[in-house]
Amino acid sequence: MIRIKNWQDYEKYKNLAEEDREKFWQIEADSFQWKKKYDKVTSGDFNDLDIKWFTNGKLNITENCLDRHLAENGNKTAIHFEPNDISKKESYSLTYKELHQKVCQFSNALDSLGIQKGDRVCLYMSLVPELLIAVLACARVGAIHSVIFGGFSALAIADRIKDCNAKWMITNDSGFRGAKEITLKKTIDEALTQCSNIEKVIVFKNTGSEVNWVEGRDFWWHDAVEGKALTHEAVEMDSEDTLFILYTSGSTGKPKGLVHTTAGYMVYAAYSFRNVFQYNPEDIFWCTADIGWITGHSYLSYGPLLNGAIQVMFEGVPNFPDASRFWQICDKYKVSHFYTAPTAIRALKKLGNSFVEKCSLNSLKVLGSVGEPIDEEAWHWYNETIGKKKCSIVDTWWQTETGGIMISPLAGITKTKPAFATYPLPGIFPQLVDKDGKEITDSNTNGSLCMKKTWPSIARTVYGNHDRYREVYFSTFVGKYFTGDGSFRNEDGFYRITGRVDDVVNVSGHRIGTAEVESVINNLSFVVETAIIGFPHEIKGTCLAAFVILNKEVEKEEVINQIKKEVTEQIGSFAKPEKIILVTDLPKTRSGKIMRRILRKLLEGEYNSIGDTSTLLNPDIVEEIKQKVMQE
Ligand code: WT7
Repeated sequence: MIRIKNWQDYEKYKNLAEEDREKFWQIEADSFQWKKKYDKVTSGDFNDLDIKWFTNGKLNITENCLDRHLAENGNKTAIHFEPNDISKKESYSLTYKELHQKVCQFSNALDSLGIQKGDRVCLYMSLVPELLIAVLACARVGAIHSVIFGGFSALAIADRIKDCNAKWMITNDSGFRGAKEITLKKTIDEALTQCSNIEKVIVFKNTGSEVNWVEGRDFWWHDAVEGKALTHEAVEMDSEDTLFILYTSGSTGKPKGLVHTTAGYMVYAAYSFRNVFQYNPEDIFWCTADIGWITGHSYLSYGPLLNGAIQVMFEGVPNFPDASRFWQICDKYKVSHFYTAPTAIRALKKLGNSFVEKCSLNSLKVLGSVGEPIDEEAWHWYNETIGKKKCSIVDTWWQTETGGIMISPLAGITKTKPAFATYPLPGIFPQLVDKDGKEITDSNTNGSLCMKKTWPSIARTVYGNHDRYREVYFSTFVGKYFTGDGSFRNEDGFYRITGRVDDVVNVSGHRIGTAEVESVINNLSFVVETAIIGFPHEIKGTCLAAFVILNKEVEKEEVINQIKKEVTEQIGSFAKPEKIILVTDLPKTRSGKIMRRILRKLLEGEYNSIGDTSTLLNPDIVEEIKQKVMQE
């Protein structure tokens, strides 16, 4: 096991990983419970794309998350569950022993309903312990879980179900986020009218709201587990067997299902959790992400459990019943480690300090940030107002594809600098390259962020489409993994992530492909063409503007309503454009490519730095669009 305790350790392990990468990862891997030990640490690279870690090892990740802790820490708390509304539902805790029993019991239910190793199971649930139990039970029986975030629409769910040809679905009746009821089962019923591959739907009764029932297809969770044993023999998995698929957006086409495999993911989730957060036994860790995102997989499910950590899981939202909820929860459970997104920090900051001042926040030691660049102002507020200047701040950069945190300070060990994710974890080898793919070695420069060597938890492929995997990540700069992000590196070698350099936009930490939204809008009968552009937003970090060309006269209000409705139905309400600007044309190059850079400058009000427009097919359109933008 690798436990970096101070700066000397960091350097020692960093050097070891450079000199003998296999030895380094072996030290971490050997602390786990294997059913059969692996015979090779790693093979494959960014050219052959046949990446393997811990070859021929046999294991089950849930034995490492649960069974391994029972002898010594069975009575230790695994989860403190805080419901959305404590006047409606009680908070409760589960020990490792109880969580193990519940996972085993549900695994037995899955077995008796006929699940097979390798079957794909989609989950669409509220953030309640049963979601975690279902995820772990899938892993225990060898089924591949694909969690779909509760904010996605029926059509977006159907796309994902079809893409991975899932056989099973697990959901709950409904759930509350703040005062709003989210009718998950209803959305699933709608999604399933679009796909015929789902054979069984297991429904957890969460609120008791009425649901439609399809006899023979739908099964209640409580019926399925009734009388089932509290022990279950975990299925033997190969190191490279798929553990889960998680969909994320890219610059082109439909979302892609990234495939994460068992052993490499396990090793990296555990290693990164322990070292970035400097978690010690008895610390209380709270990651506010939903399990529907990779953050919830690695740092609310697997990473903490692999380390036997005590966690908080919160079903609700930061502003219900009021904007002090997060801080009250920190006090209630004596949270020591708090991990959230800049968008939440900015939103809470804007509401003023009175909500924070009601709470002591004495227990906090480490504050984490993830999902998008954190601006200096938000960083300082987090540090001063929440952390009272006595906490370590860790700005953690990573991606769905990377499986775990890649560039981040180690809490209390690495020097920090606002808005800098600082250094890579030992074992991670980033590189900045220029547009020709040449490595940039100078400091104080910007470049495209790449990785030059594999690491255990890199996604192995795009489900069902290995060519797309090569195309998206390994063709821009051959032989390297391209992250899609730009980064600055200063004279200390600190990395500052500057944001996406491809056509992906991060809205409130939700990753949205502009092409995806454009294609939804272009499908409307009155639309000729659309360009979706991200522009800065005070709370959301970035939000979307749609420049739309119509083929006939339609009332602007009608256009706006239709577009918002369509995007909400096809993707989810978080992808709705904030601004919709009707134009007669878009600035295009002679080869027909939309000049997004120009639209972005116009949105940012940088009218004087638009640059040369003479090479455009239609230079006059810039002035017209400028006028429209100014009227907004
Ligand atoms: C993209 C990945 C990683 C879990 C949540 C998001 C952006 C992520 C940071 C950070 C600046 C960040 C990047 C990245 N991002 N963390 N600390 N600083 N940008 O996962 O949905 O796969 O999105 O989020 O642009 O590429 P994701």
